[in-house]
Amino acid sequence: MTDIKKGLAGVVADVTAVSKVNPETNSLLYRGYPVHELAATQSAEAVAYLLWNGELPDAAQLAELRATERAHRALADDVKAVIDLTPLGAHPMDEIRSAVSALGARDLAGTGSVLDASGTPEQNLERSIRLFAALPAIVAYGQRRRRGQDLIPPRDDLDYAANFLWMTFGEEFDPVVVDAFNRSMILYAEHSFNASTFTARVITSTLSDLYSAVVGAIGALKGPLHGGANEAVLHIFDEIGDADNVVAWLDDALAHKRKIMGFGHRVYKHGDSRVPTMKAALDTLIAYYDRPDVEALYTTLESEFVARKGIYPNLDYPSGPAYNLMGFDTLTFTPLFVAARVVGWTAHVMEQTAANALIRPLSEYVGPDERHIDGFVDEV
Ligand code: SDX
Repeated sequence: MTDIKKGLAGVVADVTAVSKVNPETNSLLYRGYPVHELAATQSAEAVAYLLWNGELPDAAQLAELRATERAHRALADDVKAVIDLTPLGAHPMDEIRSAVSALGARDLAGTGSVLDASGTPEQNLERSIRLFAALPAIVAYGQRRRRGQDLIPPRDDLDYAANFLWMTFGEEFDPVVVDAFNRSMILYAEHSFNASTFTARVITSTLSDLYSAVVGAIGALKGPLHGGANEAVLHIFDEIGDADNVVAWLDDALAHKRKIMGFGHRVYKHGDSRVPTMKAALDTLIAYYDRPDVEALYTTLESEFVARKGIYPNLDYPSGPAYNLMGFDTLTFTPLFVAARVVGWTAHVMEQTAANALIRPLSEYVGPDERHIDGFVDEV
Protein backbone atom coordinates (compact mmCIF):
# COMPACT_ATOMS: atom_id res chain seq x y z
CA MET A 1 0.00 0.00 0.00
CA THR A 2 1.37 3.42 -0.96
CA ASP A 3 2.25 5.75 1.91
CA ILE A 4 -0.59 8.27 1.46
CA LYS A 5 0.00 11.67 3.13
CA LYS A 6 -3.64 12.56 3.95
CA GLY A 7 -4.06 16.34 3.88
CA LEU A 8 -0.46 16.50 2.61
CA ALA A 9 0.49 16.53 6.32
CA GLY A 10 4.26 16.84 6.64
CA VAL A 11 4.77 17.00 2.87
CA VAL A 12 7.29 19.60 1.64
CA ALA A 13 5.74 20.61 -1.69
CA ASP A 14 8.19 23.33 -2.77
CA VAL A 15 10.66 25.93 -1.52
CA THR A 16 9.70 29.47 -0.58
CA ALA A 17 11.62 32.59 0.40
CA VAL A 18 8.51 34.47 1.55
CA SER A 19 8.25 33.21 5.13
CA LYS A 20 9.57 30.54 7.47
CA VAL A 21 7.28 28.83 9.97
CA ASN A 22 9.44 27.04 12.53
CA PRO A 23 7.48 24.86 15.02
CA GLU A 24 10.68 23.76 16.76
CA THR A 25 11.52 27.32 17.78
CA ASN A 26 7.87 28.41 17.61
CA SER A 27 8.83 31.30 15.36
CA LEU A 28 7.69 32.94 12.13
CA LEU A 29 9.99 34.96 9.85
CA TYR A 30 8.77 37.22 7.03
CA ARG A 31 11.69 37.41 4.56
CA GLY A 32 13.97 36.74 7.57
CA TYR A 33 12.45 39.23 10.02
CA PRO A 34 10.69 37.85 13.16
CA VAL A 35 7.02 38.75 12.79
CA HIS A 36 6.75 40.15 16.33
CA GLU A 37 9.48 42.69 15.52
CA LEU A 38 7.65 43.75 12.36
CA ALA A 39 4.31 43.99 14.20
CA ALA A 40 5.83 46.21 16.87
CA THR A 41 7.69 48.58 14.54
CA GLN A 42 6.22 48.61 11.00
CA SER A 43 3.06 49.68 9.19
CA ALA A 44 0.95 47.17 7.26
CA GLU A 45 2.06 48.98 4.10
CA ALA A 46 5.76 48.50 4.88
CA VAL A 47 5.28 44.80 5.63
CA ALA A 48 3.33 44.37 2.38
CA TYR A 49 6.27 45.94 0.54
CA LEU A 50 8.65 43.53 2.35
CA LEU A 51 6.63 40.42 1.48
CA TRP A 52 6.27 41.43 -2.17
CA ASN A 53 9.79 42.73 -2.77
CA GLY A 54 11.96 40.89 -0.25
CA GLU A 55 13.25 43.99 1.57
CA LEU A 56 11.73 46.63 3.83
CA PRO A 57 11.10 49.87 1.91
CA ASP A 58 13.20 52.98 2.32
CA ALA A 59 11.35 56.26 2.85
CA ALA A 60 10.95 56.95 -0.86
CA GLN A 61 9.78 53.43 -1.65
CA LEU A 62 7.24 53.54 1.21
CA ALA A 63 5.99 56.93 0.10
CA GLU A 64 5.52 55.61 -3.44
CA LEU A 65 3.64 52.53 -2.21
CA ARG A 66 1.45 54.70 0.04
CA ALA A 67 0.61 57.00 -2.86
CA THR A 68 -0.34 54.07 -5.09
CA GLU A 69 -2.36 52.44 -2.33
CA ARG A 70 -4.23 55.67 -1.67
CA ALA A 71 -4.96 56.07 -5.39
CA HIS A 72 -6.74 52.69 -5.48
CA ARG A 73 -8.67 52.77 -2.18
CA ALA A 74 -12.04 53.95 -3.45
CA LEU A 75 -14.69 51.32 -4.12
CA ALA A 76 -15.21 51.19 -7.91
CA ASP A 77 -18.83 51.63 -9.00
CA ASP A 78 -18.94 48.30 -10.86
CA VAL A 79 -17.51 46.43 -7.85
CA LYS A 80 -20.01 48.18 -5.56
CA ALA A 81 -22.78 47.14 -7.95
CA VAL A 82 -21.72 43.47 -7.65
CA ILE A 83 -21.75 43.76 -3.85
CA ASP A 84 -25.20 45.41 -3.97
CA LEU A 85 -26.49 42.51 -6.08
CA THR A 86 -25.34 39.99 -3.45
CA PRO A 87 -28.22 38.93 -1.16
CA LEU A 88 -27.90 40.61 2.27
CA GLY A 89 -28.16 37.17 3.85
CA ALA A 90 -25.14 35.86 1.92
CA HIS A 91 -21.98 35.23 3.95
CA PRO A 92 -19.53 38.13 3.55
CA MET A 93 -16.91 35.72 2.24
CA ASP A 94 -19.20 34.93 -0.71
CA GLU A 95 -19.70 38.66 -1.23
CA ILE A 96 -15.95 39.32 -1.18
CA ARG A 97 -15.26 36.41 -3.50
CA SER A 98 -17.67 37.94 -6.05
CA ALA A 99 -16.23 41.43 -5.56
CA VAL A 100 -12.64 40.28 -6.18
CA SER A 101 -13.79 38.33 -9.21
CA ALA A 102 -15.48 41.47 -10.59
CA LEU A 103 -12.39 43.54 -9.84
CA GLY A 104 -10.26 41.04 -11.73
CA ALA A 105 -12.63 40.88 -14.70
CA ARG A 106 -12.45 44.70 -14.93
CA ASP A 107 -8.68 44.91 -14.57
CA LEU A 108 -8.04 42.09 -17.07
CA ALA A 109 -10.61 43.24 -19.63
CA GLY A 110 -8.97 43.50 -23.02
CA THR A 111 -5.67 41.97 -21.91
CA GLY A 112 -5.87 39.26 -24.54
CA SER A 113 -6.24 35.51 -24.46
CA VAL A 114 -5.70 33.11 -21.55
CA LEU A 115 -2.15 32.79 -22.84
CA ASP A 116 -1.54 36.27 -21.36
CA ALA A 117 -3.37 35.56 -18.06
CA SER A 118 -0.30 34.82 -16.00
CA GLY A 119 0.97 38.40 -16.27
CA THR A 120 4.45 39.87 -16.11
CA PRO A 121 6.13 40.43 -12.70
CA GLU A 122 5.43 44.17 -13.04
CA GLN A 123 1.75 43.55 -13.88
CA ASN A 124 1.34 41.14 -10.96
CA LEU A 125 2.98 43.52 -8.48
CA GLU A 126 0.62 46.27 -9.67
CA ARG A 127 -2.36 43.91 -9.35
CA SER A 128 -1.21 42.89 -5.84
CA ILE A 129 -1.06 46.52 -4.70
CA ARG A 130 -4.46 47.19 -6.27
CA LEU A 131 -6.05 44.29 -4.34
CA PHE A 132 -4.33 45.33 -1.09
CA ALA A 133 -5.70 48.85 -1.61
CA ALA A 134 -9.20 47.84 -2.70
CA LEU A 135 -10.09 45.16 -0.14
CA PRO A 136 -10.55 47.47 2.88
CA ALA A 137 -13.34 49.37 1.09
CA ILE A 138 -14.93 46.07 0.00
CA VAL A 139 -14.84 44.72 3.58
CA ALA A 140 -15.92 48.02 5.16
CA TYR A 141 -18.82 48.55 2.74
CA GLY A 142 -19.96 44.96 3.27
CA GLN A 143 -20.36 45.49 7.01
CA ARG A 144 -22.01 48.90 6.57
CA ARG A 145 -24.45 47.54 3.98
CA ARG A 146 -25.47 44.73 6.35
CA ARG A 147 -26.07 47.36 9.02
CA GLY A 148 -28.17 49.49 6.63
CA GLN A 149 -25.49 52.21 6.56
CA ASP A 150 -24.10 54.10 3.58
CA LEU A 151 -20.67 53.79 1.99
CA ILE A 152 -17.96 55.96 3.55
CA PRO A 153 -15.33 57.13 1.06
CA PRO A 154 -11.64 56.70 1.95
CA ARG A 155 -9.50 59.50 3.43
CA ASP A 156 -6.11 60.23 1.94
CA ASP A 157 -4.80 61.77 5.14
CA LEU A 158 -4.98 58.44 7.02
CA ASP A 159 -2.62 55.47 6.76
CA TYR A 160 -3.90 52.06 5.75
CA ALA A 161 -5.04 50.85 9.20
CA ALA A 162 -6.66 54.12 10.30
CA ASN A 163 -8.40 54.52 6.94
CA PHE A 164 -9.71 50.94 7.11
CA LEU A 165 -11.32 51.76 10.48
CA TRP A 166 -12.58 55.13 9.14
CA MET A 167 -14.32 53.51 6.14
CA THR A 168 -15.89 50.89 8.42
CA PHE A 169 -17.07 53.05 11.31
CA GLY A 170 -16.87 56.66 10.14
CA GLU A 171 -14.67 57.70 13.03
CA GLU A 172 -10.99 58.29 13.79
CA PHE A 173 -9.91 55.73 16.39
CA ASP A 174 -7.51 56.23 19.26
CA PRO A 175 -3.91 55.29 18.30
CA VAL A 176 -4.16 52.34 20.76
CA VAL A 177 -6.91 50.79 18.65
CA VAL A 178 -5.27 51.67 15.32
CA ASP A 179 -2.02 50.08 16.50
CA ALA A 180 -3.78 46.87 17.60
CA PHE A 181 -5.55 46.68 14.23
CA ASN A 182 -2.30 47.36 12.34
CA ARG A 183 -0.57 44.57 14.29
CA SER A 184 -3.38 42.12 13.48
CA MET A 185 -3.07 42.86 9.75
CA ILE A 186 0.68 42.19 9.91
CA LEU A 187 0.22 38.96 11.88
CA TYR A 188 -2.44 37.70 9.45
CA ALA A 189 -0.52 38.74 6.32
CA GLU A 190 1.42 35.54 5.60
CA HIS A 191 1.95 31.97 6.81
CA SER A 192 3.79 29.85 4.20
CA PHE A 193 1.85 26.98 2.55
CA ASN A 194 -1.41 27.19 4.51
CA ALA A 195 -4.48 25.83 2.72
CA SER A 196 -5.57 29.11 1.10
CA THR A 197 -2.06 30.07 0.00
CA PHE A 198 -1.43 26.62 -1.43
CA THR A 199 -4.75 26.92 -3.27
CA ALA A 200 -3.49 30.17 -4.80
CA ARG A 201 -0.26 28.46 -5.83
CA VAL A 202 -2.12 25.53 -7.44
CA ILE A 203 -4.23 27.93 -9.51
CA THR A 204 -1.15 29.98 -10.43
CA SER A 205 0.74 26.84 -11.48
CA THR A 206 -1.66 26.38 -14.44
CA LEU A 207 -0.63 29.91 -15.61
CA SER A 208 -4.04 31.28 -14.68
CA ASP A 209 -4.27 34.89 -13.48
CA LEU A 210 -3.57 36.41 -10.06
CA TYR A 211 -7.22 37.38 -9.46
CA SER A 212 -8.41 33.80 -10.09
CA ALA A 213 -5.78 32.61 -7.60
CA VAL A 214 -7.06 35.07 -4.96
CA VAL A 215 -10.70 34.11 -5.59
CA GLY A 216 -9.78 30.46 -5.05
CA ALA A 217 -7.84 31.34 -1.90
CA ILE A 218 -10.88 33.21 -0.52
CA GLY A 219 -12.94 30.06 -1.01
CA ALA A 220 -10.38 28.04 0.94
CA LEU A 221 -10.04 30.61 3.73
CA LYS A 222 -13.81 30.61 4.38
CA GLY A 223 -13.67 27.18 5.96
CA PRO A 224 -13.81 27.06 9.81
CA LEU A 225 -10.80 24.74 9.92
CA HIS A 226 -8.85 27.66 8.42
CA GLY A 227 -9.77 31.34 8.29
CA GLY A 228 -13.37 30.97 9.41
CA ALA A 229 -12.10 30.02 12.89
CA ASN A 230 -11.82 33.64 14.13
CA GLU A 231 -15.54 34.12 13.51
CA ALA A 232 -16.22 30.77 15.19
CA VAL A 233 -14.25 31.83 18.29
CA LEU A 234 -16.72 34.67 18.92
CA HIS A 235 -19.66 32.30 18.49
CA ILE A 236 -18.06 30.17 21.24
CA PHE A 237 -17.54 33.23 23.48
CA ASP A 238 -21.19 34.18 22.95
CA GLU A 239 -22.30 30.62 23.78
CA ILE A 240 -20.28 30.51 27.00
CA GLY A 241 -21.23 34.01 28.16
CA ASP A 242 -18.81 34.47 31.06
CA ALA A 243 -15.88 32.75 32.72
CA ASP A 244 -18.05 30.99 35.33
CA ASN A 245 -19.67 28.90 32.57
CA VAL A 246 -16.43 27.69 30.94
CA VAL A 247 -16.04 24.36 32.75
CA ALA A 248 -19.62 23.22 32.12
CA TRP A 249 -19.52 24.41 28.51
CA LEU A 250 -16.21 22.65 27.84
CA ASP A 251 -17.42 19.42 29.49
CA ASP A 252 -20.40 19.39 27.15
CA ALA A 253 -18.41 20.41 24.06
CA LEU A 254 -15.78 17.74 24.52
CA ALA A 255 -18.43 15.13 25.37
CA HIS A 256 -19.92 15.92 21.94
CA LYS A 257 -16.43 15.78 20.34
CA ARG A 258 -16.70 19.40 19.17
CA LYS A 259 -13.65 21.12 17.68
CA ILE A 260 -12.89 24.15 19.86
CA MET A 261 -12.27 26.86 17.28
CA GLY A 262 -9.18 28.98 17.79
CA PHE A 263 -7.17 26.08 19.14
CA GLY A 264 -4.77 23.70 17.44
CA HIS A 265 -2.64 23.98 14.33
CA ARG A 266 -1.35 21.63 11.63
CA VAL A 267 2.23 22.92 11.96
CA TYR A 268 2.57 24.47 15.45
CA LYS A 269 2.08 21.77 18.04
CA HIS A 270 3.30 23.75 21.07
CA GLY A 271 1.56 27.04 20.42
CA ASP A 272 1.23 29.47 17.49
CA SER A 273 4.19 31.89 17.32
CA ARG A 274 1.86 34.81 16.60
CA VAL A 275 -0.37 34.41 19.64
CA PRO A 276 1.80 36.28 22.21
CA THR A 277 1.96 39.36 19.95
CA MET A 278 -1.79 39.30 19.19
CA LYS A 279 -2.64 38.64 22.87
CA ALA A 280 -0.54 41.68 23.82
CA ALA A 281 -2.57 43.73 21.35
CA LEU A 282 -5.78 42.28 22.83
CA ASP A 283 -4.55 43.20 26.30
CA THR A 284 -4.19 46.86 25.25
CA LEU A 285 -7.76 46.78 23.94
CA ILE A 286 -9.10 45.09 27.12
CA ALA A 287 -7.47 47.88 29.16
CA TYR A 288 -8.61 50.64 26.77
CA TYR A 289 -12.24 49.47 26.72
CA ASP A 290 -12.12 48.35 30.38
CA ARG A 291 -13.32 44.80 29.71
CA PRO A 292 -11.87 42.51 32.42
CA ASP A 293 -14.71 40.08 31.64
CA VAL A 294 -13.14 39.37 28.25
CA GLU A 295 -9.79 38.68 29.90
CA ALA A 296 -11.40 36.31 32.42
CA LEU A 297 -13.29 34.34 29.75
CA TYR A 298 -10.26 34.23 27.43
CA THR A 299 -7.81 33.00 30.07
CA THR A 300 -10.21 30.56 31.75
CA LEU A 301 -11.15 28.82 28.48
CA GLU A 302 -7.50 28.72 27.39
CA SER A 303 -6.20 27.26 30.65
CA GLU A 304 -9.05 24.72 30.91
CA PHE A 305 -8.69 23.47 27.33
CA VAL A 306 -4.89 23.34 27.36
CA ALA A 307 -4.98 21.46 30.67
CA ARG A 308 -7.41 18.86 29.29
CA LYS A 309 -6.20 18.40 25.69
CA GLY A 310 -2.70 19.90 25.54
CA ILE A 311 -3.82 21.82 22.43
CA TYR A 312 -2.81 25.46 22.28
CA PRO A 313 -4.44 28.61 20.91
CA ASN A 314 -3.78 29.73 17.34
CA LEU A 315 -3.89 33.30 16.02
CA ASP A 316 -7.66 33.20 15.59
CA TYR A 317 -8.19 32.84 19.35
CA PRO A 318 -6.92 36.33 20.41
CA SER A 319 -7.88 38.06 17.15
CA GLY A 320 -11.59 37.22 17.45
CA PRO A 321 -12.14 39.04 20.78
CA ALA A 322 -9.83 41.84 19.62
CA TYR A 323 -11.93 42.52 16.51
CA ASN A 324 -15.06 42.29 18.67
CA LEU A 325 -13.75 44.98 21.02
CA MET A 326 -12.86 47.20 18.05
CA GLY A 327 -16.54 47.00 17.05
CA PHE A 328 -16.37 44.77 13.98
CA ASP A 329 -19.36 42.48 13.43
CA THR A 330 -18.43 38.81 13.90
CA LEU A 331 -19.28 38.13 10.26
CA THR A 332 -16.61 40.67 9.28
CA PHE A 333 -13.75 38.84 11.03
CA THR A 334 -12.80 36.43 8.23
CA PRO A 335 -13.09 39.19 5.61
CA LEU A 336 -10.48 41.05 7.70
CA PHE A 337 -8.29 37.96 7.39
CA VAL A 338 -8.76 38.18 3.56
CA ALA A 339 -7.72 41.84 3.52
CA ALA A 340 -4.53 40.97 5.40
CA ARG A 341 -3.69 37.65 3.75
CA VAL A 342 -4.07 39.00 0.22
CA VAL A 343 -0.47 40.20 0.68
CA GLY A 344 0.84 36.70 1.40
CA TRP A 345 -1.30 35.14 -1.31
CA THR A 346 -0.04 37.55 -3.96
CA ALA A 347 3.57 37.24 -2.80
CA HIS A 348 3.26 33.49 -3.29
CA VAL A 349 1.55 33.93 -6.68
CA MET A 350 4.54 35.98 -7.83
CA GLU A 351 6.99 33.44 -6.40
CA GLN A 352 5.16 30.50 -8.00
CA THR A 353 5.09 32.31 -11.35
CA ALA A 354 8.82 33.05 -11.20
CA ALA A 355 9.75 29.37 -10.83
CA ASN A 356 6.67 27.54 -11.93
CA ALA A 357 5.86 23.83 -12.21
CA LEU A 358 2.29 22.61 -12.71
CA ILE A 359 1.02 21.29 -9.35
CA ARG A 360 -0.57 17.91 -10.06
CA PRO A 361 -0.07 15.15 -7.43
CA LEU A 362 -0.85 11.49 -7.95
CA SER A 363 -3.59 9.43 -6.35
CA GLU A 364 -3.94 5.77 -5.38
CA TYR A 365 -6.98 4.20 -7.10
CA VAL A 366 -9.13 2.17 -4.71
CA GLY A 367 -12.28 1.94 -6.85
CA PRO A 368 -13.80 -1.13 -8.58
CA ASP A 369 -11.51 -3.32 -10.72
CA GLU A 370 -11.87 -2.84 -14.49
CA ARG A 371 -15.30 -4.03 -15.70
CA HIS A 372 -17.24 -3.72 -18.98
CA ILE A 373 -20.66 -2.76 -20.38
CA ASP A 374 -22.80 -5.84 -21.17
CA GLY A 375 -22.85 -6.54 -24.92
CA PHE A 376 -20.42 -3.77 -25.75
CA VAL A 377 -18.51 -4.59 -28.95
CA ASP A 378 -15.33 -2.66 -29.31
CA GLU A 379 -15.58 -0.59 -32.53
CA VAL A 380 -11.83 0.11 -32.80
C1 SDX B 1 -5.47 28.85 10.63
O1 SDX B 1 -2.04 26.32 8.26
C2 SDX B 1 -1.96 27.57 8.65
O2 SDX B 1 -0.91 28.21 8.70
C3 SDX B 1 -3.31 28.19 8.96
C4 SDX B 1 -3.25 29.54 9.66
C5 SDX B 1 -2.72 30.61 8.76
O3 SDX B 1 -2.21 31.61 9.25
O4 SDX B 1 -2.94 30.49 7.52
O5 SDX B 1 -2.44 29.46 10.80
C6 SDX B 1 -4.65 29.98 10.09
O6 SDX B 1 -6.16 28.24 9.87
C7 SDX B 1 -5.35 28.47 12.08
C8 SDX B 1 -6.26 27.26 12.44
C9 SDX B 1 -7.69 27.75 12.61
N1 SDX B 1 -8.58 26.60 12.80
C10 SDX B 1 -9.16 26.33 13.97
O7 SDX B 1 -8.95 26.95 15.01
C11 SDX B 1 -10.16 25.17 13.92
C12 SDX B 1 -9.93 24.22 15.11
N2 SDX B 1 -8.64 23.57 14.94
C13 SDX B 1 -8.66 22.19 14.43
O8 SDX B 1 -9.66 21.95 13.48
C14 SDX B 1 -7.26 21.68 14.11
O9 SDX B 1 -6.46 22.02 15.15
C15 SDX B 1 -6.61 22.09 12.82
C16 SDX B 1 -7.46 21.78 11.64
C17 SDX B 1 -6.25 23.52 12.84
C18 SDX B 1 -5.29 21.28 12.69
O10 SDX B 1 -5.64 19.99 12.80
P1 SDX B 1 -4.65 18.81 12.33
O11 SDX B 1 -3.24 19.20 12.41
O12 SDX B 1 -5.14 18.28 11.02
O13 SDX B 1 -4.86 17.79 13.46
P2 SDX B 1 -6.18 16.96 13.68
O14 SDX B 1 -7.41 17.74 13.25
O15 SDX B 1 -5.97 15.62 13.07
O16 SDX B 1 -6.22 16.87 15.27
C19 SDX B 1 -5.38 15.92 15.95
C20 SDX B 1 -6.18 15.55 17.18
C21 SDX B 1 -7.58 15.06 16.85
O17 SDX B 1 -7.99 14.21 17.87
P3 SDX B 1 -8.27 12.65 17.52
O18 SDX B 1 -9.38 12.69 16.46
O19 SDX B 1 -6.94 12.13 16.93
O20 SDX B 1 -8.67 12.04 18.82
O21 SDX B 1 -6.37 16.72 17.99
C22 SDX B 1 -7.77 17.03 18.06
C23 SDX B 1 -8.45 16.29 16.92
O22 SDX B 1 -9.78 15.99 17.24
N3 SDX B 1 -7.92 18.46 17.88
C24 SDX B 1 -8.88 19.17 18.44
C25 SDX B 1 -8.65 20.49 18.01
N4 SDX B 1 -7.59 20.51 17.21
C26 SDX B 1 -7.14 19.26 17.12
N5 SDX B 1 -9.90 18.82 19.27
C27 SDX B 1 -10.72 19.81 19.66
N6 SDX B 1 -10.57 21.11 19.29
C28 SDX B 1 -9.56 21.48 18.48
N7 SDX B 1 -9.41 22.75 18.13
